[in-house]
Amino acid sequence: MAKSYKSISMAVIRRLPKYHRYLKELIDKEVYRISSKELSAMMGFTASQIRQDLNNFGGFGQQGYGYNVEELYREIQKILGLTITYRTVIIGSGNLGQAIANYTNFQKYGFKLLALFDTNPKLIGMKIRDVPVFDIDELQGFIDEKQVDIGIICTPKEFAQDIANKLIKAGVSAIWNFAPIDLRVPEHVIIENVHLSDSLFILSYLLSNQENL
Ligand code: NAI
Repeated sequence: MAKSYKSISMAVIRRLPKYHRYLKELIDKEVYRISSKELSAMMGFTASQIRQDLNNFGGFGQQGYGYNVEELYREIQKILGLTITYRTVIIGSGNLGQAIANYTNFQKYGFKLLALFDTNPKLIGMKIRDVPVFDIDELQGFIDEKQVDIGIICTPKEFAQDIANKLIKAGVSAIWNFAPIDLRVPEHVIIENVHLSDSLFILSYLLSNQENL
């Protein structure tokens, strides 16, 4: 059975994707070890924050040696579940749905896109890269047959709850929701909302308060 990392706080978990990204860059540059101080300069976290975070899941840092980049990267991959393959579908094949489907990097991290769905007859039957767009009416049957783990909602917000209900009824375990609405889901279903505008508004705040910072 996979090791459980449930004792690690969500605050630490939410920082792990950033560690993962920087460590990958180091691996690409063939850097094999790094100190918390160097990581701190790259990432903008304090060195003590980094030591505290990474102490949570094993004694990777060694006094006078720093961290073994590859080992740390692999461990973070395991913690984030990125060594597992997930089967996904996208609902809503408009601008955003197609952009996500066209972004091949998700596939590299184990998120396999099986199909897109839509109501628009102009889109149904198309392929985005090599992935087909099906009629939304085929969703339940498709999920029954293909065992989908994650449903990605990219429809206008007024349809999102209905789509979520359909996905849950069909048996998906998790929803990645892009529609700007708080979806109601039962406790056993995991939901992660993405709001690009949150990040944009922070950018706007920083820009408009530049002289005060
Ligand atoms: P779009 O209009 O280009 O695409 C929406 C697609 O959903 C259309 O192809 C439409 O036919 C389809 N659709 C409508 N009802 C459906 C249903 N019941 N079942 C299946 N498909 C259905 O819109 P766009 O720009 O792609 O945005 C999609 C959603 O993503 C919107 O809710 C938008 O607010 C949200 N969005 C969220 C962002 C974020 O950061 N979270 C960023 C950009 C968009």
